[in-house]
Amino acid sequence: LAASTAHEIRNPLTGIKGLIQLLSEKYQTEKDQQYFSVINQEINRINQIVSEFLILGKPTIQKREIIDIREIFLELRPLIESEAMLSNITWSHHFPSQPVHIVCSKDQMKQVILNVVKNAFESMNGGGTLLIEVSNIKDKCNIKITDSGIGIPKENLAKLFDPFYTLKESGTGLGLAVCKTIIQSFGGSIQITSEENKGTVVNIYLPLNIEKTSES
Ligand SMILES: Nc1ncnc2c1ncn2[C@@H]1O[C@H](COP(=O)(O)OP(=O)(O)OP(=O)(O)O)[C@@H](O)[C@H]1O
Ligand SMILES: [Mg+2]
Repeated sequence: LAASTAHEIRNPLTGIKGLIQLLSEKYQTEKDQQYFSVINQEINRINQIVSEFLILGKPTIQKREIIDIREIFLELRPLIESEAMLSNITWSHHFPSQPVHIVCSKDQMKQVILNVVKNAFESMNGGGTLLIEVSNIKDKCNIKITDSGIGIPKENLAKLFDPFYTLKESGTGLGLAVCKTIIQSFGGSIQITSEENKGTVVNIYLPLNIEKTSES
């Protein structure tokens, strides 16, 4: 139901967005432009929630390919770097020197990493450290993302992956639910451990594409 409703919301939204664009070319005063900017932001937010709903409903619609996970981080690097700079966060990473091949949809995998990294940044209000590690454990790729943020009380750990579970004023609580759905659709798993006022560790495990990894 969520997925089909989400899909039906998208079409009229696209129409609204187009018309707002036309109106914003017609009404040029500063005040009007401010209104249009807010309308646009809100439409983008609805769009984002709708996209997440679509993933929760139908996780397998995207094309799968064999990807070196390091490549995904390389592409996300400028984003993470600028966000870290703005938020006074020191970040470092540790990747194997050999390719780490997994089977996934690149865009969805990027979304997973961004959701987790976004949570890490949001937990470190005022600064901290972020560590991103990739390693091979037997036949699995392990992505480990560690922050030095506020941490998560024990009693909340079980709720983290519930859709709409959020403690943030402007959060939708879909970030981790989406991550879990995507990771599971790739045959992987995601685990979170945390200590209050110390920080949080997110571990993602994905099956390695052994053939490709050992041949290169
Ligand atoms: N790294 C973290 N440190 C501390 N708390 C976390 C961390 N990651 C998740 N949480 C807690 O889990 C909740 C759910 O996270 P989730 O990403 O699903 O939703 P959200 O971040 O609240 O909203 P959204 O991701 O939709 O913007 C968060 O509100 C926060 O309380
Ligand atoms: Mg989040």
